[in-house]
Amino acid sequence: MDKKFFVTTPIYYVNDVPHIGHAYTTLAADILARYYREKLGRENVFFLTGTDEHGQKVSQAAKEKGVSPKEFSDSVTSRFKDAWRLLNISYDYFIRTTDPKHEKIVTSLLQKIYDKGYIYKGTYEGLYCIGCEKFLTESDLVGGRCLLHPNKEPVKQKEDNYFLRLSELSKKVLGKIEEEEYEILPKERKNEVIGRLKSRVEDISISRGGVSWGIPVPWDKSQTIYVWVDALINYYSATQFLEGKTKFWPADLHLIGKDILWFHAVIWQALLIAAGVDLPKKIFAHGFFTIDGQKMSKSLGNIISPKQLVDRYGVDGARYLLISAYPFGDDGDISLKRFDAKYNADLADALGNLVSRVAKLCEGLNIKISQSKKIPARYCEDIEHLDLYGVLNNVHSQVILANRYIDKNEPWKIKNQKKLNAVLGYLVKKILSLANQLRPFLPETSEKIEKLFSGPGIKLGEPLFPRLR
Ligand code: MSP
Repeated sequence: MDKKFFVTTPIYYVNDVPHIGHAYTTLAADILARYYREKLGRENVFFLTGTDEHGQKVSQAAKEKGVSPKEFSDSVTSRFKDAWRLLNISYDYFIRTTDPKHEKIVTSLLQKIYDKGYIYKGTYEGLYCIGCEKFLTESDLVGGRCLLHPNKEPVKQKEDNYFLRLSELSKKVLGKIEEEEYEILPKERKNEVIGRLKSRVEDISISRGGVSWGIPVPWDKSQTIYVWVDALINYYSATQFLEGKTKFWPADLHLIGKDILWFHAVIWQALLIAAGVDLPKKIFAHGFFTIDGQKMSKSLGNIISPKQLVDRYGVDGARYLLISAYPFGDDGDISLKRFDAKYNADLADALGNLVSRVAKLCEGLNIKISQSKKIPARYCEDIEHLDLYGVLNNVHSQVILANRYIDKNEPWKIKNQKKLNAVLGYLVKKILSLANQLRPFLPETSEKIEKLFSGPGIKLGEPLFPRLR
C-alpha cells in the first residue's frame, strides 16, 4: 500500500458557472481525500482541483460579457471557490491555468517533447467544436454536428499547426495499458479505450494559430498551445511549482467524467511518455447524470447549482443525496422530487431519527462508551474500490437495523438498570461507529454525532435533518 495519495478532479472551464455535474466529481474526490487523510495522515494526501481558463470557449464567453478573458476568469473562478466552500470541499490546492507558475511548467514540458522529436509542423483542415475544444472526427459527427453540442455549428478551420505524433505514441500507450502500468476504471471504459487504440489513431494538432488566449508555443510565439494540452499538464505542474509537493507525482487517481476519458487515458499518457515523465496510476471515469431524464443544459434551463441543493438540504444533505443517487461509475438520473423523498426517508426519518431517539433515551443516564475507531474491513475495501454509493447504502442499512433494534427492545419499558444500560450502550456504540463511517461523506454530521454522544452528559439537541414538508 502506498504511503501517499494524490487525487485530482478535472479543472473546470470558466465559461460556465459551477453546477452539480462539477460538484459530483469534486465531492467524490473530497470524500476520498478525507478518507485517506485519516488513513495515511494529513501530510500524505494531496487533493487538487482548479479551473481551466484558456482557449476559445473562455475568450468567446468573455467577449460576450465585454470584459477581458482574464477579468472574466477571475470572476468565475471565485464562483467555483464559493461553491466548494458551500459544499465543504477540502481541496489542498486550487490551480488556475493562467498562473504564470503553471505556464512555465507547461512551456518547459512541451519544449522537452519537441526536443525529443515528437512534435512536427503540419497543416490542419477540419471541423472544430468550440464546446468540446477539439477537432471533430467522423465518429463525433451526427448530421454534420457535434454529438455533444448539437446546437453549436462546428467551425471549419484550416491552419498551420504543430502536431503530436499520437499515432506512434498511441502504440506505447496501448502497451502500458496492457502491461497494467496504469489502470483505467471501470473496466468497460478500459475496454472502450483499448478498442479505439487498436483502430487507427491519428496525430493531433497541439497548437493554434488564431487563438491568442493561451500559452505561447515556446519555439514559435505566433502559435498558442492547445488548451487541452495546457489543461492536462495542471496535474503535474502543481506538484512541481508548489513547495514540498514533488513527492506526490505520479498522481494516484485522476477522477473524471466519462466525457473526457480519451484525453486522460490516451492523450495525457502520450504527452507524459513523450516527455519521459512517470504515468499516473489510476483513472476513474464516472458516468453522467441527466435531470428528470433530460440532459442538463442552459438551453433547457434545468441546470442545478450546488447552492440550490445546499439551501434546500443543508451541506451534508446535499453531499448525501448526490453520492447516493446512483452507483458511482454508472450513468444515472437525478430528480429534485426524488431528492426530497430520499432526504426525508434516509436522513430525517432514518439517521436523524435514530440519533434523536437514542439521545433522548440516554438523557440523564450515565452511559459510558469506550470509543473504538475500528472501521469494518469491508468499508475500507468499498471506499478504496470507489464504491462510494455502496458505502452509503450499507450505512443506511445499518441505520435501519438499529432503528428496528430499538422497536424490538422497547428500551422505554425496561426497568432493569443493567439491561437498560446494555441496550443503550449497544446503540450508542453503533451510532458512534456510524458517525465514524460517515466522516468522509458527511463531516459536519459526523462531528455533531460524536460531540453529542461522547460529551459528559448526553442531551437531545436540534434535529440533525429537519423534515421537509
Ligand atoms: N476543462 C475540461 C477538463 C480539463 S481537465 C484537465 C472540462 N471542463 S468541464 O467544465 O466541462 O467539466 C467536465 C466535467 O464536469 C466532467 O468530466 C464531469 O466531471 C463533470 N460533469 C459535467 N456534467 C456532468 C453530469 N451531467 N454528470 C456527471 N458529471 C458531470 O471538461
